[in-house]
Amino acid sequence: MSKPRFVRVAETGRAPVRFRLDGREISGLEGDSVLTAVLTNANHVRTSEFSNGKRAGFCLMGACQDCWMWTEEGDRLRACTTRIEPGMALRTTTPETGTWPTTRS
Ligand code: FES
Repeated sequence: MSKPRFVRVAETGRAPVRFRLDGREISGLEGDSVLTAVLTNANHVRTSEFSNGKRAGFCLMGACQDCWMWTEEGDRLRACTTRIEPGMALRTTTPETGTWPTTRS
């Protein structure tokens, strides 16, 4: 797993929340957004749909659409506006293709 993008400097005493990211068991803290929980363990939430660059969110408040992720069931969620829950199974790539869905012509 990549080096974490976020460093937690406050509220470190909250209860841990275990979840999976790309099949790996990791943890965030109770009350974290998915974005915070993921980026305190990894340096990105997905690969760009426009290039092979890695994305890690931008606005952190639900406006930019840069933090879409997927569940292992294939549902898409916005990481900055979704709270981490115990047992969540998240992916940085789509379950079907391993890439962002392409537009249909
Ligand atoms: S980081 Fe901008 S919508 Fe989530």
